[in-house]
Amino acid sequence: MTEHPVSGAGSERDGEPVSLIDGIATTRTIRRYTDEPVPTRALRDILFAATRAPSGSNRQLFRMIVLTDGPNAVAAKRLIGESARGMWAAKRRNDSYDVGSGIEQSSPKARMARTMQRYVDEFDSVPVLILPCLIRHRAPTPTEGASIYPACQNLLLAARALGYGGAFAAWQAPVEDELRELLGIPLDVFIAGTITLGKPEGAHGPVRRRPMSELVFEETWDNSPTWAVDPPGTKHTSAGPPRRT
Ligand SMILES: Cc1cc2nc3c(=O)[nH]c(=O)nc-3n(C[C@H](O)[C@H](O)[C@H](O)COP(=O)(O)O)c2cc1C
Repeated sequence: MTEHPVSGAGSERDGEPVSLIDGIATTRTIRRYTDEPVPTRALRDILFAATRAPSGSNRQLFRMIVLTDGPNAVAAKRLIGESARGMWAAKRRNDSYDVGSGIEQSSPKARMARTMQRYVDEFDSVPVLILPCLIRHRAPTPTEGASIYPACQNLLLAARALGYGGAFAAWQAPVEDELRELLGIPLDVFIAGTITLGKPEGAHGPVRRRPMSELVFEETWDNSPTWAVDPPGTKHTSAGPPRRT
């Protein structure tokens, strides 16, 4: 698949090594995990990659709280699990997952609903929960997320490279106060998301996005360059922004 492999970029312990570009193209959200714990050696490598991320002025104010099986981990998974079930129930209703094509059990919508339902139902036993945090050194700015989210993506890419999979979510927001109290997170720290990790139950596969010609412009807004052509075999999705006419 890779047309321009990046040498020496990846090592997947449970299978073929994966190049950096192939890893990027196949790091899908993994929401179904086996019961297998993630060994601390793998966690070390995954979190090392997270801590190598860029941040504004290289301040490195990102922090990752790793929760596996300690008492706080059990309590945090329970808290966020409850929140996730509530948020998913509302989304399932509001986004009409159970009407239209959602009634057909084999439709992408119904399959997504089943995956999400299982993800939230089993949240309390996810192998690893990580709370990515950012220490705020000033009032929030529109770009502050750029100092924490690259670390999250590095983490997910490293997990992929090592044969693990993860999901980034926003389930923590409704229970932020309880998490601060439980984990001693100061008020000047932004809790930027919820990441779960584990051994994927299924296989990794190519991410599906809109064709790059719709997403990349040159010189002026909405001007797709002639070179913006997806590599052969790229899979697309109809989700996302409306197609240009
Ligand atoms: C900002 C952000 C918020 C997200 N929130 C959630 C979430 O709350 N729950 C969830 O299951 N996935 C969440 N996701 C994962 C996206 O749904 C997923 O990345 C997207 O559907 C594309 O799927 P893929 O990663 O498998 O290619 C989030 C991703 C991002 C970047």
